[in-house]
Amino acid sequence: MTEPKGENMKKLLLTVALLSSTAGFAFNAQQEFQAKCQMCHTLGAQAVGPDLLMAIPRARKFFGKKADKFFLDFMKNPAASIQANPKYVATWGKPAMNAMPPQPFNADQVKKLIAWIESQKK
Ligand code: HEC
Repeated sequence: MTEPKGENMKKLLLTVALLSSTAGFAFNAQQEFQAKCQMCHTLGAQAVGPDLLMAIPRARKFFGKKADKFFLDFMKNPAASIQANPKYVATWGKPAMNAMPPQPFNADQVKKLIAWIESQKK
Protein backbone atom coordinates (compact mmCIF):
# COMPACT_ATOMS: atom_id res chain seq x y z
CA MET A 1 0.00 0.00 0.00
CA THR A 2 1.41 3.34 -1.02
CA GLU A 3 -1.43 5.40 0.44
CA PRO A 4 -0.95 7.12 3.76
CA LYS A 5 -2.77 5.54 6.72
CA GLY A 6 -5.24 8.40 7.08
CA GLU A 7 -6.58 7.83 3.56
CA ASN A 8 -7.18 4.14 4.23
CA MET A 9 -9.05 4.99 7.39
CA LYS A 10 -11.20 7.49 5.52
CA LYS A 11 -12.07 4.87 2.89
CA LEU A 12 -12.90 2.32 5.57
CA LEU A 13 -15.19 4.75 7.39
CA LEU A 14 -16.88 5.72 4.15
CA THR A 15 -17.50 2.05 3.31
CA VAL A 16 -18.96 1.38 6.75
CA ALA A 17 -21.20 4.44 6.45
CA LEU A 18 -22.42 3.40 3.00
CA LEU A 19 -23.11 -0.18 4.07
CA SER A 20 -25.05 0.79 7.16
CA SER A 21 -27.18 3.32 5.30
CA THR A 22 -28.24 0.79 2.63
CA ALA A 23 -31.95 0.07 3.18
CA GLY A 24 -32.50 -3.11 5.13
CA PHE A 25 -28.81 -3.75 5.70
CA ALA A 26 -27.89 -4.34 9.30
CA PHE A 27 -31.40 -3.35 10.37
CA ASN A 28 -31.37 -3.83 14.11
CA ALA A 29 -34.97 -4.16 15.29
CA GLN A 30 -34.10 -3.84 18.97
CA GLN A 31 -32.17 -0.60 18.40
CA GLU A 32 -34.96 0.78 16.21
CA PHE A 33 -37.52 -0.07 18.86
CA GLN A 34 -35.47 1.58 21.58
CA ALA A 35 -34.87 4.69 19.48
CA LYS A 36 -38.30 5.13 17.88
CA CYS A 37 -41.00 3.26 19.80
CA GLN A 38 -40.01 2.84 23.43
CA MET A 39 -40.81 6.42 24.41
CA CYS A 40 -44.48 5.56 23.83
CA HIS A 41 -44.69 1.76 23.95
CA THR A 42 -43.68 -0.32 26.98
CA LEU A 43 -43.63 -4.05 26.28
CA GLY A 44 -45.85 -5.71 28.86
CA ALA A 45 -47.64 -2.55 30.00
CA GLN A 46 -49.85 0.25 28.73
CA ALA A 47 -47.95 3.54 28.35
CA VAL A 48 -48.71 6.48 26.02
CA GLY A 49 -49.39 3.79 23.43
CA PRO A 50 -50.80 0.30 23.99
CA ASP A 51 -48.77 -2.66 25.20
CA LEU A 52 -47.68 -4.11 21.85
CA LEU A 53 -47.37 -7.62 23.31
CA MET A 54 -51.15 -7.40 23.77
CA ALA A 55 -51.97 -5.28 20.70
CA ILE A 56 -50.02 -7.21 18.04
CA PRO A 57 -51.74 -10.57 18.75
CA ARG A 58 -55.07 -8.71 18.90
CA ALA A 59 -54.43 -7.26 15.44
CA ARG A 60 -53.28 -10.67 14.11
CA LYS A 61 -56.50 -12.25 15.37
CA PHE A 62 -58.65 -9.52 13.81
CA PHE A 63 -56.88 -9.20 10.44
CA GLY A 64 -55.68 -12.78 9.95
CA LYS A 65 -53.59 -13.02 6.79
CA LYS A 66 -53.90 -9.26 6.28
CA ALA A 67 -52.19 -8.45 9.58
CA ASP A 68 -48.77 -7.77 8.01
CA LYS A 69 -50.40 -5.30 5.64
CA PHE A 70 -52.18 -3.64 8.57
CA PHE A 71 -48.86 -3.24 10.43
CA LEU A 72 -47.19 -1.77 7.34
CA ASP A 73 -50.07 0.65 6.65
CA PHE A 74 -50.25 1.63 10.31
CA MET A 75 -46.51 2.44 10.44
CA LYS A 76 -46.76 4.54 7.29
CA ASN A 77 -49.74 6.55 8.45
CA PRO A 78 -51.33 5.70 11.81
CA ALA A 79 -54.09 8.32 11.53
CA ALA A 80 -55.20 7.11 8.08
CA SER A 81 -55.08 3.49 9.22
CA ILE A 82 -57.28 4.29 12.23
CA GLN A 83 -59.78 5.98 9.88
CA ALA A 84 -59.71 3.06 7.45
CA ASN A 85 -60.32 0.39 10.12
CA PRO A 86 -63.21 1.55 12.35
CA LYS A 87 -64.27 -2.02 13.20
CA TYR A 88 -60.82 -2.91 14.47
CA VAL A 89 -60.50 0.36 16.39
CA ALA A 90 -63.86 -0.40 18.03
CA THR A 91 -62.21 -3.46 19.67
CA TRP A 92 -59.78 -1.16 21.53
CA GLY A 93 -62.43 -0.24 24.06
CA LYS A 94 -61.42 3.43 23.99
CA PRO A 95 -61.14 6.17 21.40
CA ALA A 96 -58.01 6.47 19.25
CA MET A 97 -55.60 9.18 20.34
CA ASN A 98 -54.04 9.77 16.94
CA ALA A 99 -50.81 10.38 18.83
CA MET A 100 -48.52 8.08 16.88
CA PRO A 101 -46.34 9.78 14.26
CA PRO A 102 -45.70 8.01 10.91
CA GLN A 103 -42.75 5.57 11.02
CA PRO A 104 -40.97 5.46 7.67
CA PHE A 105 -39.99 1.78 7.40
CA ASN A 106 -40.17 -0.53 4.39
CA ALA A 107 -42.17 -3.78 4.44
CA ASP A 108 -39.16 -5.90 5.35
CA GLN A 109 -38.20 -3.60 8.22
CA VAL A 110 -41.75 -3.55 9.60
CA LYS A 111 -41.79 -7.38 9.50
CA LYS A 112 -38.51 -7.55 11.40
CA LEU A 113 -39.63 -4.96 13.92
CA ILE A 114 -42.96 -6.70 14.61
CA ALA A 115 -41.24 -10.12 14.78
CA TRP A 116 -38.70 -8.76 17.28
CA ILE A 117 -41.48 -7.28 19.44
CA GLU A 118 -43.34 -10.61 19.36
CA SER A 119 -40.14 -12.44 20.34
CA GLN A 120 -40.03 -10.40 23.57
CA LYS A 121 -43.05 -12.22 24.97
CA LYS A 122 -41.95 -14.18 28.06
C1 HEC B 1 -45.48 9.44 20.15
C2 HEC B 1 -45.88 8.16 20.65
C3 HEC B 1 -45.71 6.92 19.80
C4 HEC B 1 -44.57 6.49 19.15
C5 HEC B 1 -43.22 7.16 19.06
C6 HEC B 1 -44.91 5.19 18.57
N1 HEC B 1 -46.22 4.89 18.85
FE1 HEC B 1 -47.21 3.23 18.23
N2 HEC B 1 -48.94 3.95 19.01
C7 HEC B 1 -49.05 5.10 19.79
C8 HEC B 1 -50.43 5.26 20.19
C9 HEC B 1 -50.98 6.39 21.06
C10 HEC B 1 -51.14 4.16 19.64
C11 HEC B 1 -52.63 3.82 19.77
C12 HEC B 1 -53.36 4.41 18.60
C13 HEC B 1 -54.04 5.68 19.00
O1 HEC B 1 -54.64 5.71 20.10
O2 HEC B 1 -54.00 6.64 18.23
C14 HEC B 1 -50.16 3.38 18.91
C15 HEC B 1 -50.47 2.22 18.20
C16 HEC B 1 -49.56 1.36 17.65
C17 HEC B 1 -49.88 0.11 17.00
C18 HEC B 1 -51.27 -0.46 16.77
C19 HEC B 1 -51.69 -1.13 18.04
C20 HEC B 1 -53.03 -1.77 17.97
O3 HEC B 1 -53.78 -1.57 18.91
O4 HEC B 1 -53.33 -2.47 16.98
C21 HEC B 1 -48.70 -0.47 16.63
C22 HEC B 1 -48.52 -1.81 15.93
C23 HEC B 1 -47.65 0.44 17.01
N3 HEC B 1 -48.20 1.55 17.62
C24 HEC B 1 -46.33 0.21 16.83
C25 HEC B 1 -45.32 1.18 17.00
C26 HEC B 1 -43.95 0.98 16.64
C27 HEC B 1 -43.36 -0.31 16.09
C28 HEC B 1 -43.30 2.16 16.91
C29 HEC B 1 -41.86 2.51 16.65
C30 HEC B 1 -41.38 2.30 15.30
C31 HEC B 1 -44.29 3.09 17.46
N4 HEC B 1 -45.49 2.45 17.50
C32 HEC B 1 -44.02 4.40 17.85
C33 HEC B 1 -48.03 5.98 20.11
C34 HEC B 1 -46.74 5.92 19.60
